[in-house]
Amino acid sequence: MPYLPQASTVSLSIDRYFLGSLALCLAVLLMVTFFLVYFSLRYSRKRNPQPTDIEGNALLEAVWTVVPLILFLALFYFGWTDFRTLRNPPPDSMTVKVTARQWAWSFEYPNGKRSEELFSALGRPMRLELNTLDVIHGFYIPAFRIKIDVVPNRTATAWFLPRLLGDFDIQCSVICGLDHSAMLSKVRVVSEEDFRRWYFSDEGERALAKASGGKPGKAGANLLEEHGCLACHTLDGGPSVGPTLKGLFGSMEKVEGRAEALKADEAFLRKEILEPEALIIEGYPPVMPPNTLDKEETELVLDYLKELK
Ligand code: CUA
Repeated sequence: MPYLPQASTVSLSIDRYFLGSLALCLAVLLMVTFFLVYFSLRYSRKRNPQPTDIEGNALLEAVWTVVPLILFLALFYFGWTDFRTLRNPPPDSMTVKVTARQWAWSFEYPNGKRSEELFSALGRPMRLELNTLDVIHGFYIPAFRIKIDVVPNRTATAWFLPRLLGDFDIQCSVICGLDHSAMLSKVRVVSEEDFRRWYFSDEGERALAKASGGKPGKAGANLLEEHGCLACHTLDGGPSVGPTLKGLFGSMEKVEGRAEALKADEAFLRKEILEPEALIIEGYPPVMPPNTLDKEETELVLDYLKELK
C-alpha cells in the first residue's frame, strides 16, 4: 500500500493528527530519558554524598501541570474536530448499503444495483450504511483512513470523498473467523462520467468488470459472486471452506446425522440455500451464513447449479 495522504479528504488531517501526537510522544520520551540519565549521574552517591532535602518548587509544579494540560486539551480539540468531520457526511452524499458476511463484502446502490467492489465517483461524497449478517467485522479502507466496526443488529455509518483515481484496498479489521484475512475488496474510484456509465447500464458494468479481470457471465454465477458465495465455494472443483459447486447437482453427499448419503437434487440444494444449518455436508464446518437471495434469485442460482457440471 503506497503512502497516499491525499487519497481522501479526511486522510490528510488524520495523518497530521497521528504524526503530531507521535512527535509529541517522542519529544516527551526524549525529555524524560534525558532527565533520568542526568539526575542519575548528577545525584549519584559519588557526586552527591550528602542527600539533599528538597522542599518543593511552586513554579516548577505549576509549569509541569499547566503545560501538559494545554497539550492534552489541544489533542482533544483536534481529535474532536476530526471525529466530528468523520461522523457527519455531507448532505449531497450518495448512500450505499454495505453488507458484511463471512467472508465477503457486498454493496447496494440507491437504484438497486449491486456489486462486490465499491464503485465511487471522483470528488463525490459517498455515505456508507453498514450491516453484518453474522459476526462482527471491521470495514477498513487504509488509503482513505476510515475504519469502522460493523456489529450485528446495528447499522454503522461512515463516509468518504475520494480525491484520487484508482483502486484502493478494502480490508476487514476484526478477526471474524477462518477466512478473515481473505475478506478483501476494493474501492474503484472512477471519473464521474465512467461512474454514470457503470451506474446506469449493464453494458458499462460488464465492460468495467472485464477491465478489472472479473468474469461477466450467467445471471446465476453473477448472483453467487455478488452475494459473496464465492468467498467459500469454488466453481471449478477446487478446494475451499465449503464444498465446490462444480458437479454438486446430482452428486451423492454424506450429511451429518444421517447414515445414508443423500442425492443433491433440486430440493436438496434449495434447502441448502434457504436453511444452510439444516444440512451440513460431512467434512465441512457449519459456518454458512443466512440466505440473502430473494425467491427469483434463488431459482436463477439453482438453474445455474444444474448446469455447472
Ligand atoms: Cu470480517 Cu475479519
